Amino acid sequence: MLVNAKEMLDKAKAGKYAVGQFNINNLEWTKAVLLTSEELSSPVILGVSEGAGKYMCGFNTVVGMVNGMLETLNITVPVALHLDHGTYEGAYKAMNAGFSSVMFDGSHYPIDENIEKTTEIIAAAHGKGVSVEAEVGAIGGEEDGVVGGGEVADPAECKRIADLGVDMLAAGIGNIHGKYPANWAGLRFDVLDDIQKLTGAMPLVLHGGTGIPADMIKKAISLGVSKINVNTECQLTFAAATRAYIEEGKDLVGKGFDPRKLLAPGFEAIKATVKEKMELFGSIGKA
Ligand code: 13P
Repeated sequence: MLVNAKEMLDKAKAGKYAVGQFNINNLEWTKAVLLTSEELSSPVILGVSEGAGKYMCGFNTVVGMVNGMLETLNITVPVALHLDHGTYEGAYKAMNAGFSSVMFDGSHYPIDENIEKTTEIIAAAHGKGVSVEAEVGAIGGEEDGVVGGGEVADPAECKRIADLGVDMLAAGIGNIHGKYPANWAGLRFDVLDDIQKLTGAMPLVLHGGTGIPADMIKKAISLGVSKINVNTECQLTFAAATRAYIEEGKDLVGKGFDPRKLLAPGFEAIKATVKEKMELFGSIGKA
């Protein structure tokens, strides 16, 4: 059964580790993330952007697929199904469809409007037992059509949003969706430290987990980050493994074109990436 993300993140914050949010794109992705979590006894958050939700035929299809897998694969670790960078309307749609957690990304609104809309979403979500992530500042780069300017969050604004009763807070601290450019200036640990001092026990969320060096991930966790989002890295490893399979001509041998064979190396590559991240985040054995 799906759970919301609050308890697993509160535990992670207290235990100084982070739970991975792995964005899912299709059946193979979902199965790979769930099986790896179960094998490693790690809590996990399945992230679904609005674009990926549309691609997978809507939130109802996603909820049906995930619930079906939890049962058929006998998944016993805590799993949250979370809307990633949701719009105001999208957050309502996701929670009505059965998501156990939603992000309302109001970061592009003026702060007062972000607060007003986040407050409404919290009331609706908490009434259904759904956890809520809010955002202040912006994550740079582009994810599924959501473009962010990379504004670094104002810690005082973070405190205002945290005081509304959100369950987790994403703050822009120089992080970027997708690959990091060679001239990337790194994470703003000074800002992260100020935010955690003002927001106390609030689990903080680090978006743009792809390509952040291990030492920076560890430092971010030590400064209160309890949820780390990874999307692009699984896409890259899936694509590389699929490319190798085809370039080696394996699809031309016997029934190598069977999708169950063709997609198997990519599936294994996602599993390996998720494992590597869970090791780095410290969530193994914490289910
Ligand atoms: P990456 O695609 O950079 O891993 O970021 C994922 C993310 O932050 C999802 O919200």
